[in-house]
Order: sequence, then C-alpha cells, then structure tokens
Amino acid sequence: MDKILVHGGRPLSGSIKISGSKNSALPILAATLLTREPCVLRHVPDLSDTNYMLQILMYLGAQVERASGTVSVQAEKVESVAPYDVVRRMRASVCVLGPLLARCREATVSLPGGCVIGDRPIDLHLRGFEALGAAVRVEAGNVRMFTPQLKGAIINLTGKFGPTVLGTDNVMMAAVLAEGTTVIEGAASEPEVVDLANFLNKMGAKIEGAGTRRLIIEGVQELHGAEHDIIPDRIEAGTFLVAGAVCGTGVTVNRVEPSHIEAVTTALVSAGFKIDIHERSATVSPNGASKPLEIVTAPYPGFPTDMQAQMCALLSTTEGISVVTENIFPQRYMHVAELKRMGAQVQIEGSTAVIQGVEKLLGAPVMASDLRASAALVLAGLKAEGTTEISRVYHIDRGYEHLDEKLSELGAHIERVKAD
Ligand code: EPZ
Repeated sequence: MDKILVHGGRPLSGSIKISGSKNSALPILAATLLTREPCVLRHVPDLSDTNYMLQILMYLGAQVERASGTVSVQAEKVESVAPYDVVRRMRASVCVLGPLLARCREATVSLPGGCVIGDRPIDLHLRGFEALGAAVRVEAGNVRMFTPQLKGAIINLTGKFGPTVLGTDNVMMAAVLAEGTTVIEGAASEPEVVDLANFLNKMGAKIEGAGTRRLIIEGVQELHGAEHDIIPDRIEAGTFLVAGAVCGTGVTVNRVEPSHIEAVTTALVSAGFKIDIHERSATVSPNGASKPLEIVTAPYPGFPTDMQAQMCALLSTTEGISVVTENIFPQRYMHVAELKRMGAQVQIEGSTAVIQGVEKLLGAPVMASDLRASAALVLAGLKAEGTTEISRVYHIDRGYEHLDEKLSELGAHIERVKAD
C-alpha cells in the first residue's frame, strides 16, 4: 500500500483545474442502465470509485469504453443481480438499485457495508421503492426487489438526519419509468442530485423541481441515450481552497461552479481570508490574522459534511477556540485522533468537536481512515513542522484525482512512496 510523505512548511501558490464530481459521476453512471442506447459522459474523474462503478456496470452486462475523461456506456442487456463480491467495496454501488428495478422490474443487490464515518442505512431508499410498488425483501445480506409494474406515488424521503442524497437519486431513477406521476417530498437538493436530474431529462425523463426539496416526476415509457458533462467537484474545490487557507499565499481553483462552493467560501471569509470569485474560478489568499469559527454541517446549501474534516485541519492551527458540529454523520471524527497525534488540541463531545488552536503542528506518522479524513491529514501535514507520513492512501485515491500531484503543482513538497 502506498504512503504519502508531506514535508511541511512550503507555501502554496498558483492555480489548479478541478476534476469532474465523483458524487455526480457515480449516480449518473448508474443511470446509464436505464436505457439500451449509448450514453457519453465527459469529465468523469479517474478515481478508484468511478472505475469501480464502471466494473459494476460491465458485470451487469454494459459495454464500457473510457478515453481519458470521457466514458461511453451502452447497456443493451442488463443482469439484475449485483452480488456482494462485486458491490462490497463501495457504498455508492447501492445506486444501481433504482435503475435495475426500473429497467428489469427486479433487482438483487448486496447491502452496502458500514464504514468509518458511521452506519450507512438504506431504509429511506427501500421506503421509496416500496411506495412505488416494489416488493422488498432483505435477506442474507441482500436486498431483493420485484415489481410487476412501478406506479407513481407521493413519497417523503426525510430521515432522522435530513434528506438522503443517494436515496433521492435512487428513488428518482426508479420513478422516471413508473406509470404515472411521483412526488418526492424531502428530496435532497445537492448539486449532484440536480446534475443527475438534468442527465435523466436529457434521456427523455420528465423531472421538475431538481434543486428543491420537492421533485415531481412524470413517468415515461422508455429513455434514450444522451451525452452529458459532469459538473465540477465542489468538494475537491473546497479542499484546495482550504489548503490555500492553511498555508497559501494565493491559490486559485479553476473550472468550478462558484454557487456550489458558497458555504465553504463564506466560512473562509468569516475565518479572515480573502476570496475572489470569477465566473468559473475562485481564489483564496491570506488577509491578516485568521479567526476561529463555529461550523455546523447541514444538507445543501449548508456547510457540507464532506468538508468538515478539512476545516478541522485548518482550525487546528487557528488561534482561539472553534466549535464544529457534525449533524449528518455524528461519528465522522476519525481524523481527530490523527490530528491530535500531530499536536492538535481537540475535544469531542457527542457530535461536536471543540478545537483549541495551537501555534504549530508537528509532522508524524498518521493513518488515513476515510476519504475526507485522509485529505484533512494531508492539509495538516502541509503546515506541520517536519514530515507527516500518511499510510493507507488508497482512501485518498478513491475520491481525489492525483491529489498529491496537484498539490505539488502548487508548490507543496509531497511525495508518494511505494510501501510493502
Ligand atoms: C452522499 O452519501 C455522498 N456520497 C457522501 O459523500 C455525503 O457525505 C453524503 O451524501 C451527505 O452529503 C455520494 O454521493 C456517493 P445520505 P449518501 O444518504 O447519499 C442517513 C464522500 O466523502 N440515511 O445523504 O450515502 C445517513 O446515515 C461521501 O464523497 C438514513 O438514515 O448519504 C446519514 O446520516 C461520504 N437512511 C444521512 O441520512 C437512508 O436510507 C445522510 O446520508 C439513507 C441515509
């Protein structure tokens, strides 16, 4: 397993281009199962998660071709069974459930495992499928569904922790081929859900309300192929802006949708940084002393849970006391123990982290645990004194396209070493 060595203390400057969104590409790739015609997707990031989704599509019978960032998929025939050894590595593989149910009127998919950020139930997904007329059974670690015909319904997908992103995606992908009209109340409004709805509408679906809490979907007989440009990855963009705040003299992220990163840029301005927004780019630069923050994660357009760990890295060396509250995945603090190994002073109280900023962090051997926690450790290492050795970097490769190379382009002294 590779390791990443971050030699801290080098200021970052310059600009990098943001890749296509992982969390948009994954459900959109699954949506290609809804038609027997070819689909062409551009700006699909080259990540282990997206490549894994391509393997799942091929396993299910689709023809797949990738030429750098452009992926062509044609699912002329589709198997309706995705067993454990195919889906076990990635929770997002659950989003083939909706397309398989709509296309094949049956689906058998292994239940996704939990992960370090917490239990990952799919009860809301299943609630939606049942409302659409599917018989749902969970047995021997599999979800089995069958329906003679999906029928439109009024469904509320709000759960204890708010809307479900992939649950909204899944139920939407099932409803587009149902008979009649479906209303999804309490829908997720993330940009990635909007991107999926836009792609489905290009395929001939009739979806209104994307980006709001209420989706109205008029079922159609069938969908045709379509071409689509995946939106930029707002979490990658946020991660690089926080990197620029941690130790930058001026870092620009290009090919971004400024409206998608507003919660992060607003937080950075509150933390005392200067943000310049242009049409498709954003620049962060120091602007005097940085200030402690109170961060509360929330569904879009609130502060994204996927940026919480990266913000903790920044606040670890921000003078004063900051308070971070995680409302989406209350246990999502795997990064804290590792930051404390580097000298951070953080107390976890339930789903809240109280951070006492320290003058400096010291590089140390640390372990990556989940995608965003790993990115947080890299950011902390950029500023720490000495070298931070991050093991299990496969977590990073799941969701960031060449993170170490892009940081090197900005001036970081960072190297990837093959480990035994
Ligand atoms: C998506 O996961 C993202 N993944 C996650 O990003 C992101 O953190 C999350 O949305 C929240 O924004 C992809 O898009 C591939 P949820 P998802 O269903 O859809 C609870 C990353 O780092 N819930 O919106 O799986 C759930 O436990 C990843 O890129 C239920 O209770 O998350 C959580 O507390 C990590 N029942 C909350 O809802 C359900 O049936 C939100 O989860 C489904 C979810």
